[in-house]
Amino acid sequence: MTSAATSAFRQHSAKSVRGARLKVTGMCKEYPHGGRTVSVLRDVNLTLDAGDMVAIVGASGVGKSTLLHVLGTLDLPTAGSIRFNGEELTLMGPTRLAEFRNREIGFVFQFHHLLPEFTALENVMMPVLIQRVPRPEAAERARATLARVGLDHRLTHRPSELSGGEQQRVALARALVLEPSLLLADEPTGNLDKRTGEEIHRLFLDLNRERGSTLLVVTHNPELAGMMPRCLKMLDGGGLEDVHDRRIHDQQALDSDWARHSPDRATAPADDSPETGPNRDDTLQAR
Ligand SMILES: Nc1ncnc2c1ncn2[C@@H]1O[C@H](COP(=O)(O)OP(=O)(O)OP(=O)(O)O)[C@@H](O)[C@H]1O
Ligand SMILES: [Mg+2]
Repeated sequence: MTSAATSAFRQHSAKSVRGARLKVTGMCKEYPHGGRTVSVLRDVNLTLDAGDMVAIVGASGVGKSTLLHVLGTLDLPTAGSIRFNGEELTLMGPTRLAEFRNREIGFVFQFHHLLPEFTALENVMMPVLIQRVPRPEAAERARATLARVGLDHRLTHRPSELSGGEQQRVALARALVLEPSLLLADEPTGNLDKRTGEEIHRLFLDLNRERGSTLLVVTHNPELAGMMPRCLKMLDGGGLEDVHDRRIHDQQALDSDWARHSPDRATAPADDSPETGPNRDDTLQAR
């Protein structure tokens, strides 16, 4: 990863990313199944500040993927509130929600879900074209993002012509190309060998530190969970307890990095939602 690739990536940034703030209150998720109701999440409460980087661990079947699907608006909660930068997601209609999802949320899954008949470049261009960005600009943004994940030499390869780690880098580039304010990842390296997985972990953290989006990663990988500033364990029924929380220390490094790269963010308006606590901008303004 060259610094030239990093600056090209920044240059093609369509907007200055500001991490999403999420506040989940009393969220429940049930599935109807065989004439009965399966209750997976009961009363989930979670607050993420802008730029938070959080891992969620927990036993198989407790509902981690279900939580990501609901937060990513791929599935509706049965009850409860999800506020995204102060806006209630559960009240949005399907058309608005689809546009919102495309613009604000990036997903990375265990299996990359790339479109097999398209090249790496075309796969990454897809979300940009959906935003009706002209094709040459979409191609340039996709190319810059692929360069940032170290794949500018594989632009014309189809997924079957890429290694597992390269496929996952393309999936990461596709998730990042629109600079989402929330990045959701579900076992993003569960399918990779240890070394490749570690490279992708570092990439995740570097990219997020550079850009400041909010990151929520579900993982069974103790190294990845240990690298994240905050780690939560999901219990049966969806309760979340802290495994570790090092945000106070990491925040200082993150804030000075932010201020250095994006001095304008230091004066961005603070959110007026009474429900949310002090956010990154408050911290910067207070200095
Ligand atoms: N569509 C559905 N209908 C009925 N039950 C479902 C449905 N989707 C998920 N479940 C159930 O919800 C529970 C939680 O599933 P989920 O995929 O969220 O678990 P997880 O914590 O991600 O597990 P893993 O670590 O194995 O990926 C499981 O018991 C699953 O059987
Ligand atoms: Mg899962």
